[in-house]
Amino acid sequence: KELQRENKDLEGIKFLVTAGPTREIIDPVRFLSNHSTGKMGYEIAKAIIKRGGEVKLISGPSGLEAPEGADTVLVESAEEMFEAVQESYPWCDVLIKSAAVSDYRPKTREGQKVKKDSRKEEIQLTLVRNPDILFEMGKIKGPGKIHVGFAAETEKIKEHGEEKIQKKNLDFIVANDVTEEGAGFAHHTNIVHFIDKNGDHSKTEKVEKSAIAHEILDKVLLKKKSENS
Ligand code: CTP
Ligand code: CA
Repeated sequence: KELQRENKDLEGIKFLVTAGPTREIIDPVRFLSNHSTGKMGYEIAKAIIKRGGEVKLISGPSGLEAPEGADTVLVESAEEMFEAVQESYPWCDVLIKSAAVSDYRPKTREGQKVKKDSRKEEIQLTLVRNPDILFEMGKIKGPGKIHVGFAAETEKIKEHGEEKIQKKNLDFIVANDVTEEGAGFAHHTNIVHFIDKNGDHSKTEKVEKSAIAHEILDKVLLKKKSENS
């Protein structure tokens, strides 16, 4: 299998990959974010390059080094990520959305630092919904394009995965149970469930994220081949 992968089997295929968390600004010194490190998406980008594919990587703030050979665009908020994805979408054959996009953002972005008010024991922060990038791209999904989603779940993996496949018009989803030891954010390893739109469901062992990246690309390639035949 490794041999075949070294064989530039992704040559001629264009991948748009998103990675990392988003940051939703509250004021000049504060933001809302999540625990995503970007590792999964960056490993996917590296694996694509190794196998001869082309990749645009749209990344939230991760601190990771841009993979050599990838066209990397750094963004901050979900809205910025949405714009960057829209711009590059027509170019791609495959969209892989591994970014952990913030579902909500502060309604107002304060121009000055919010000061502590000694009279207030409690304050409110109003949040508004961010665009669901994968859902929006699913609505305008181009012919022959493959969309891959990710999901971090704490329960009902299969049900939630299948719902997201339908709702977001995905080909398959890579779901992980963040309650499992050695899975999810900030680990080198992960345990994932592959849930396909055709109903197939499989689960990996606890393996390196780079190995999961290659498995995802194997599945994409299989789908592309079955479409072309
Ligand atoms: N996603 C996205 N834009 C958003 C939120 C999520 O593109 N605003 C993408 C993620 O990149 C991921 C997939 O949708 O590939 C699923 O993300 P997830 O957070 O699991 O799903 P949600 O639809 O946001 O549902 P919930 O958080 O309620 O489980
Ligand atoms: Ca979400």
